[in-house]
Formats: sequence, structure tokens, C-alpha cells
Amino acid sequence: MTVSNLIDGRAIAEDIHRETVERIARLREKGVQPGLAFVRVGEDPASKVYVGMKERMCARLGIRSELHLLPEQTSQTELLALLDRLNADPRLHGVLVQAPLPRHIDSATVFAAVLPSKDVDGFHPTNVGKLMLGDPSGFAPCTPAGVHELLIRSQTPIQGAEVVILGRGNIVGKPMLSILIQKSRTANATVTLCHSLSRDIPGRCRQADILIAAIGVPEFVKALMVKPGAVVIDVGVNRVEDPSAKSGYRLVGDVDFAAVQPLAGRITPNPGGVGPMTIAMLMRNTVRAAEVATGIPPAV
Ligand code: GUN
Repeated sequence: MTVSNLIDGRAIAEDIHRETVERIARLREKGVQPGLAFVRVGEDPASKVYVGMKERMCARLGIRSELHLLPEQTSQTELLALLDRLNADPRLHGVLVQAPLPRHIDSATVFAAVLPSKDVDGFHPTNVGKLMLGDPSGFAPCTPAGVHELLIRSQTPIQGAEVVILGRGNIVGKPMLSILIQKSRTANATVTLCHSLSRDIPGRCRQADILIAAIGVPEFVKALMVKPGAVVIDVGVNRVEDPSAKSGYRLVGDVDFAAVQPLAGRITPNPGGVGPMTIAMLMRNTVRAAEVATGIPPAV
């Protein structure tokens, strides 16, 4: 029998949900129900799926959620006016604006308009700064925070490890770097962040003890880019055309899973790896926002 080398994101996310549900129960004993507002602008198909999944998880765990659906042509001024109302609503502890936004809206301005104390996505400059400074009072973006938890809970050695991150986006690559370079027992890694102009990406990847792919290119990571025994984390969700699929497309990650799995030490499946962790971190951030806002700390 071969022992699986998969890092089971679904199972780890369920462990976190159990912890979150206990915290929600404690809040509810004190008469507080955590509340989260979702704002979606336009009809981006992937955003519809993601927001739907997050709403269902709120319902399952006992977080009150509300969805604000705005048409594609909504002006930035209208969107900012809605955020003002949500920021001021004491029943809401978290406010999430789903990215991507339509092109006529400046995402940075919008993310900066969410109150930092309600910014459970961790996109506000105050929270970005706190993450870089190692100040735990801020919120970390959910996907890199989820990858960090996956590494910790799968007992992957992080201190002193060579980590290579593929992708420098504000949602995954940059905050992932911030998390892993901190002076902390759960970080202390040596991190290389590669992007489109980096030289010798395969050679750099082959040095990695932990390889995190968040580059948005289907099956970019091939077997020759992976050191045998490395831990490989696939953050990618790419739609590729597939006439044989009912929807006309299928989802593939940033890692050529079939080729890489046999030589990886551990590897995340996709789906079932990072995705469930992103949602688990969002739920946890929302509950923490509610605890801080109401002054009710968790039991432990
Ligand atoms: N779009 C892709 N990932 C995310 C995320 O984590 N949060 C939000 N709000 N939008 C996203």
C-alpha cells in the first residue's frame, strides 16, 4: 500500500470550521451573531461561484450574511456610497468586495474604502501594512493565510525552508511573501518570489523545499521544476476550454498534477486543496472581527 502524499485541504478546513463554530456559539451566548456583507459588481462567472460558496458556508456555520448585487455599469461613487453604509452598520462585522471589479472602477480605491476593522479580506492598506510589519491585530488575505495554515497543519517544516512563490499578485503572491518572511516559529522561511520577468524560473523552482504556484497559467509547474520530496501547493484555478465538458470548460491548477505528484513529498490536490482553506480563513476572520468589535474574546 502506498501512503498518500496529498495535503487534504477539505479535511483541514473542516477542523478549522469546528473551531470557528465554537467561537460563533460563544458569541451567540452573549447575544451576538457575526455578520458579513458580500458585494458583487457585474456578472463575472467565477465570482458568482465563489460568492455563492462563501454565502453557503456562512449559512452552515451560523454567520448572518447579506449579498449586495450591483450591475456592471455601477459607478465607483455608487459603490463607495454603499460601502459607507455597510461600514456604518453595527450588525455587520465584515465587508467583502469580490474581485475582479469592472474596469472603470479602481480596485485600490474601493478596497481602501472598507473599514480596516471590517476588512476580513485583508486588502486595506492598513492590513497590508500590518501583515508586512508582523502585527497580528490586522487581517491577512484569506488565500495566503489558508496556504500558511495548510503548511502548519500538515507539519511541513517552514523555518529555514527555501520557499519559491510563483506570482506577485496582491491577493496571493505578495501577502504570501509577507507571511513567510516573518520572524516567527511558523515562518522564518527564505522566500524567492518569481514573476513574468524572473530569470531561470525552472532552476529557482528546483531549489524550493516549498513551491507555491499562484501564477494563473494552467499546469505551469512541470516535473522538471520540482525537487524530489518538495512540498507543492497549487493555488491556481484556471478555466480551459473543453468541448467534452457540459459547461464547455474545465478547471485546472497551476501545477501539472499528474506529472508532479509522484515526485513531490506532499502536494495539494486541486480542487480540494487551497480552495476550501480560503473559505475557512474568511469565516475565521469574520468571527474574529465580531469578537474584536464586541469585546467578546474566544474561550481559549
Ligand atoms: N477574488 C479572488 N480571490 C479573492 C478573495 O480572496 N477575495 C475577494 N474579495 N475577491 C477575490
